[in-house]
Amino acid sequence: MTHLDLFSKFKRFNSLEPSLRILGFFLVTLLFIGCFFYLDYHTVVRRFHSHGVTWLGFRGSSLSSSSSFGGDVLPEFLYENGDGCDIFDGNWVWDESYPLYQSQNCSFLDTGFRCSENGRPDSFYTKWRWQPKDCNLPRFDARKMLEKLQGRRLVFVGDSIGRNQWESLLCMLSSTIPNKTNVYEVNGRPITKHTGFLVFKFEEFNCTVEYYRSPFLVIQGRPPPGAPEEVKMTLRVDQMDWTSTQWRDADVLVLNAGHWWDYGKTVREGCYFQIGEEVKMNMSIENAFRKSIETVTNRISSEVNLTKTYVLFRTYAPVHFRGGDWDTGGGCHFEKLPDLGPSQVLSGSHFKIVVDVLLEHMNRSQKMKFDLLNVTVMSLHRKDGHPSLYYLGPDTGPASINRQDCSHWCLPGVPDIWNQLLYALILKRQS
Ligand SMILES: *[C@@H]1O[C@H](CO)[C@@H](O)[C@H](O)[C@H]1NC(C)=O
Ligand SMILES: *[C@@H]1O[C@H](CO)[C@@H](O)[C@H](O)[C@H]1NC(C)=O
Ligand SMILES: *[C@@H]1O[C@H](CO)[C@@H](O)[C@H](O)[C@H]1NC(C)=O
Ligand SMILES: *[C@@H]1O[C@H](CO)[C@@H](O)[C@H](O)[C@H]1NC(C)=O
Ligand SMILES: *[C@@H]1O[C@H](CO)[C@@H](O)[C@H](O)[C@H]1NC(C)=O
Ligand SMILES: *[C@@H]1O[C@H](CO)[C@@H](O)[C@H](O)[C@H]1NC(C)=O
Ligand SMILES: *[C@@H]1O[C@H](CO)[C@@H](O)[C@H](O)[C@H]1NC(C)=O
Repeated sequence: MTHLDLFSKFKRFNSLEPSLRILGFFLVTLLFIGCFFYLDYHTVVRRFHSHGVTWLGFRGSSLSSSSSFGGDVLPEFLYENGDGCDIFDGNWVWDESYPLYQSQNCSFLDTGFRCSENGRPDSFYTKWRWQPKDCNLPRFDARKMLEKLQGRRLVFVGDSIGRNQWESLLCMLSSTIPNKTNVYEVNGRPITKHTGFLVFKFEEFNCTVEYYRSPFLVIQGRPPPGAPEEVKMTLRVDQMDWTSTQWRDADVLVLNAGHWWDYGKTVREGCYFQIGEEVKMNMSIENAFRKSIETVTNRISSEVNLTKTYVLFRTYAPVHFRGGDWDTGGGCHFEKLPDLGPSQVLSGSHFKIVVDVLLEHMNRSQKMKFDLLNVTVMSLHRKDGHPSLYYLGPDTGPASINRQDCSHWCLPGVPDIWNQLLYALILKRQS
């Protein structure tokens, strides 16, 4: 139907009998309310809440959750027989009191994560908190976490999603520090895209929050002599990354891997897998990944003092490319709400490999306790949490629709919640 058709129909419609006109008026009113709802969602949402109506089928409101942990009361899940509650099993709940900080107020963020400053128009994605099914989480208290970390080192090791989580934690913690000059990189390095490591010190608490870039967790380097010509580089899946000597004494260690273990970032680039002095030309990426996680868990068991160091593996952070991959026009643009349905089955094996290796490992040696930051399933729901077009900086403007970022996460956003879970686990371990 062309515009002209529509117009002439509308004109005819106008001359019809009054009952139809009333119907028309009703429809136009509905449309108007719809527009109002779209443009002024904050007001509407607040109104929904003040009447106690559920929003999009989610239960609960910010008031009930935050009031239960006033003052220094221990979080509820620490009371009830400790392990009874799986804090990773729950729902995303709308909460007007989020986000925990504004990106404008935090100088520790890469441009790529500053979605709203880069032009993302909606802000729903900053307003969801995680509600476990069987217990409540402690509300994040930056000062309390810094007190727990007094004189200590908290270290993230992994790929850029690990960096995403690390920057989120820097913002969450520094929000409580009035004089930001007391939070600084110990070597004076800028936070911008960096390939080595960065160590931020919170002077007042004499603690550091550090990030080591190590997307494979094992050594990547030159091939051994005599390797076939197509081998440009190898991943030595039986050797933990060189940087480990710098982080193995940390007090809290959060490891992650997964996103780089794919064909495009390994074999297609001429990067093959090596065990001992031998390049394993036929080793599958999956087997190489499994072997590397085994290497890392074994080395940590033997080299890290697990009485002192609390070791966590953050599980795979899902990506949300629709209709293609990151380099073939896949996207997550216009995703404004979490997926409300039941959990989907995760495709891809990266999640399973890490979890399987760790569970096998813990089975073998009961005292070899690592914890999982089991964020995969909860984050699967958050297709709305990625930068999509808004990762290039305010001066450049939105990216091309064919080059979307549906792997990293906007900040403030989903990684803040992972850190809130990390906070809960740290409180639990120390109690
Ligand atoms: C991770 O959390 C999901 C969602 O609660 C759960 O189904 C899964 O069993 C958990 N995995 C592990 C290894 O704890
Ligand atoms: C961000 O900083 C501004 C100005 O200092 C302040 O008014 C605002 O409350 C801050 N926002 C948050 C969430 O901390
Ligand atoms: C700061 O913490 C380190 C341990 O990380 C400790 O060796 C040092 O003595 C502490 N310094 C102060 C001033 O407390
Ligand atoms: C912040 O701290 C620095 C160093 O401790 C000090 O020189 C500066 O005056 C402080 N700034 C404010 C506004 O308090
Ligand atoms: C690797 O696989 C190819 C094709 O499947 C086979 O021809 C070759 O013998 C294998 N090489 C080794 C070292 O197993
Ligand atoms: C491991 O750390 C604990 C707690 O800091 C300490 O008491 C113990 O001596 C350490 N063990 C070794 C072998 O260094
Ligand atoms: C761990 O051990 C239990 C009991 O011995 C067994 O049922 C389970 O399958 C094992 N899990 C893994 C991942 O090996």
